[in-house]
Amino acid sequence: MSLIQFTLFFFIIFLHNSKTVTSSTSFIAPITRDPSTELYTITISFKTPLQSTNLLLDLGAKFTWIDCTPDSYTSTTHRYIPCGTNLCASLTSLACSNCFRPTGPGCHNNSCALFPENPVIKNTNPGQLGVVPDFVASCSDNSLLRGLPDGVSGLAGLGRSNYSLPAQVSSVYASPNIFALCLPGVSSASSGSAFFNTGGPYYFFPGIDLSSHLVYTPLILNPIGFTIITYYGQPSDEYFINVTSININGKPLEFNPSLLTIDDDGFGGTRLSTVTPYTTLETSIYNAFIQAFVNESAALNLTVTDAVSPFEVCYAASDVYSTPLGPAFPVIDLVMHSEDVFWRISGANTMVSVAREDEDGGDVWCLGFVDGGEKPRTSVVIGGHQMEDNLLQFDLVSMRLGFSSSVLVHDTNCASFNFTDDPGV
Ligand SMILES: *[C@@H]1O[C@H](CO)[C@@H](O)[C@H](O)[C@H]1NC(C)=O
Ligand SMILES: *[C@@H]1O[C@H](CO)[C@@H](O)[C@H](O)[C@H]1NC(C)=O
Ligand SMILES: *[C@@H]1O[C@H](CO)[C@@H](O)[C@H](O)[C@H]1NC(C)=O
Ligand SMILES: *[C@@H]1O[C@H](CO)[C@@H](O)[C@H](O)[C@H]1NC(C)=O
Ligand SMILES: *[C@@H]1O[C@H](CO)[C@@H](O)[C@H](O)[C@H]1NC(C)=O
Ligand SMILES: *[C@@H]1O[C@H](CO)[C@@H](O)[C@H](O)[C@H]1NC(C)=O
Repeated sequence: MSLIQFTLFFFIIFLHNSKTVTSSTSFIAPITRDPSTELYTITISFKTPLQSTNLLLDLGAKFTWIDCTPDSYTSTTHRYIPCGTNLCASLTSLACSNCFRPTGPGCHNNSCALFPENPVIKNTNPGQLGVVPDFVASCSDNSLLRGLPDGVSGLAGLGRSNYSLPAQVSSVYASPNIFALCLPGVSSASSGSAFFNTGGPYYFFPGIDLSSHLVYTPLILNPIGFTIITYYGQPSDEYFINVTSININGKPLEFNPSLLTIDDDGFGGTRLSTVTPYTTLETSIYNAFIQAFVNESAALNLTVTDAVSPFEVCYAASDVYSTPLGPAFPVIDLVMHSEDVFWRISGANTMVSVAREDEDGGDVWCLGFVDGGEKPRTSVVIGGHQMEDNLLQFDLVSMRLGFSSSVLVHDTNCASFNFTDDPGV
């Protein structure tokens, strides 16, 4: 993302599909997967009058921003944040901005500036259920939308910062900051769900509460964030976990274990990213990983075939059995702080189906992990494909991640949330 300064606004936010808030302060918003970019969008309502708005889902981002170019944004409820206010100071703003480039409804000199954005605040919108008043977000112009899915007009930041979407939604309702994501699988026709302000239950068809299938591992603080240059030296807003071993069919991969710990400069470790389509592994881990995977697959009589970029290990689909958890391949476990706490990655999350129309060989299954390079900031970045049809709960009260592994085990999937059946939301 380029570093561009913007004028700021404030918005209200209204979570689409939220239910009456009289007895509950939980919200749910739909998540869809964009097949061309392999990114996820969350649908929330903004603006005046309220309009359903698609935002890129970015688990690690500090702030939410939205395209405020005058043609695309109208709101009577936005307000900029003046410099010198406590709010501006708490946003860890480093600069004041003048209205050097009018971009949108209201452009103010002496406004609190953020890289790459400029936030603004506003008073409560009366009476509407599910409205989050005084929601701080920032305005961008539409140049920041490049490369995002069609129809997206901004970014929803779900990071650890006090001004992320879940943090603000929880603070307005004095509810615990616990949110959960269930990303829809590749083949889902309907959307997955994001849940805010609730630790469960999360009822999915046919009547399964997925919160009962969560296991927990601590969320770890990376002392050095990298996302935006202005915040260099501050802790990362991204979510890191303590993966201590990667096992294939129960056998640990061999590589330098220090790659899995975060050093004083913030390098190493494992984080989760919804803007990384496929898990990336530091080169030495990646090499050990594909070698062991190919070897274990050979024991299943599976022989590699021509690879399809960006993947390096592919198998003819006709050779592979299918199971309720996807194609039958070796099982991958991410072992956490304790040996009995592991995230099991089964076939549907391990492999990617690729059509090879140009050849007579038919479709292939490719190992959906990619080489992250020799000195990446983070050794293991768990990507979207590996999180689909898994329930992930980010509990910022207890600083822990709850994870379900594949919910296909329970004969359900992330597109099966029953909107009419859930007493918790
Ligand atoms: C903002 O300040 C610049 C000078 O820094 C001035 O030229 C411009 O007119 C001011 N704009 C407004 C809206 O006050
Ligand atoms: C975030 O909010 C909490 C609770 O209000 C506060 O203790 C903490 O200092 C804030 N963090 C930052 C970085 O402002
Ligand atoms: C390859 O697989 C065989 C049989 O499963 C196993 O005994 C051996 O240790 C594996 N070798 C490597 C390098 O993973
Ligand atoms: C692999 O093939 C061999 C020889 O055809 C057969 O004996 C063995 O049972 C097969 N193993 C599996 C796991 O299918
Ligand atoms: C990760 O887990 C290991 C094994 O339990 C433990 O020794 C280590 O201190 C943990 N690291 C962090 C950062 O919690
Ligand atoms: C959702 O819940 C409602 C109310 O309990 C029930 O009537 C309906 O059949 C459920 N739908 C699905 C798809 O589970």
